[in-house]
Amino acid sequence: MSTGGLVLLLSGPNLNLLGEREPEVYGTATLDDHVAAATSAAVALGLTLEHVQSNHEGDLVEAVHGARGRAVAIIVNAGALTHTSWSLHDALAAFDGVVVELHLSNPAAREPFRHTSTIASVADGCIAGFGGLGYPLAVEAVSRILADRR
Ligand code: DQA
Repeated sequence: MSTGGLVLLLSGPNLNLLGEREPEVYGTATLDDHVAAATSAAVALGLTLEHVQSNHEGDLVEAVHGARGRAVAIIVNAGALTHTSWSLHDALAAFDGVVVELHLSNPAAREPFRHTSTIASVADGCIAGFGGLGYPLAVEAVSRILADRR
């Protein structure tokens, strides 16, 4: 299946530390490893992947603004901003394409503060709890949703 188009993969705070950060929760793969897996999946499906990581909320908001009219989808692992950021929620609400919320761990099975997502209501769906497998799965989900919409 080849749908074409640009997919923005957004990575929030502390995800740059993957591989070193709480490996018992997040695994030993680095963010570069996950981006490489997502990129391979995208290329196989005829999509182009662009990745932005930032520890700053405003940078992520601006990356979403920059995707407007340019990207067909956003895959977002917002890290802890998932649980707090209404500005990211509002930015994603103003984005026209597919939005997939992504997490390595399963926040619903963790501390209560992780049970709320500000992004969930503006996402088409969420992939969580499958570790690094979630990255290619999210790209696959984008491709299938786009194919269904065309
Ligand atoms: C995370 C889950 C969040 O609760 C946490 O703050 C993260 C990573 C995940 O991928 O499992 O930084 O988004």
